[in-house]
Amino acid sequence: MKQIVDWSAFWEQDRLDFHQGQVNIYLQRFLPQFELKPGDQIFMPLCGKAFDILWLAQQGYQVVGVELSPIAVESFFDESGLDYRLDKLGSFSRYRAPNITLYQGDFMHLQAEQLAACKLVYDRAAIVAIEDFNRPSYSQHMQQIIPPSTPMLVVTLDYDQSIMTGPPFSVPLDEIRRLYQAHYRIDILHSSEQIDERPRWRNNGLDSLIESALCLDPIR
Ligand SMILES: C[S@@+](CC[C@H](N)C(=O)[O-])C[C@H]1O[C@@H](n2cnc3c(N)ncnc32)[C@H](O)[C@@H]1O
Repeated sequence: MKQIVDWSAFWEQDRLDFHQGQVNIYLQRFLPQFELKPGDQIFMPLCGKAFDILWLAQQGYQVVGVELSPIAVESFFDESGLDYRLDKLGSFSRYRAPNITLYQGDFMHLQAEQLAACKLVYDRAAIVAIEDFNRPSYSQHMQQIIPPSTPMLVVTLDYDQSIMTGPPFSVPLDEIRRLYQAHYRIDILHSSEQIDERPRWRNNGLDSLIESALCLDPIR
């Protein structure tokens, strides 16, 4: 995928505002409603070094992540203190620890066979990290590589893109609908104004930032 945002620079320069120092609240709140069993596979596209990876793995889920930056993947293992095995799979470096497989490389190169057992996609700060012209390819590729019965938990942002350029980008509900509604029913699990909690965004000129957690349920 041809991208303008240089994500390697974010990692090299430690510009990691997107990285949460805790498990995501929507993941904690809404995971139970997907009724997964220990051993079920959860896919985290563009996973960074999110705490969520370890949190899910510790509950017995099989976490599969994909992440472009080797610094992110290696930081995840260093900071979590987990040993890993490293090998190559196609264009990916594959890092494996108990309950965790992280593919270091481009999401667009991931294949359906790597996600054949996927029971949930957890997209936090992933679709909002993709430039608008790449989002149709991102969502189409997602739908090609996950089983058709797999739901998604998507956290998205809606703000005035003419005031702040991103990333993270504004991906309003209407756009999520356009990208996914042919095959998914889209339910809003939570949506709230966040500008008071994010002074940095207000300093950039925004007076509104809506964060939403969505459930994308495959239409059977
Ligand atoms: C905003 S960060 C979010 C990371 C993580 N989801 C989190 O919640 O902390 C977006 C991440 O996507 C990664 N990324 C960007 N484009 C990618 C691609 N095409 N394939 C895999 N990872 C990518 C970046 O390196 C960055 O770590």
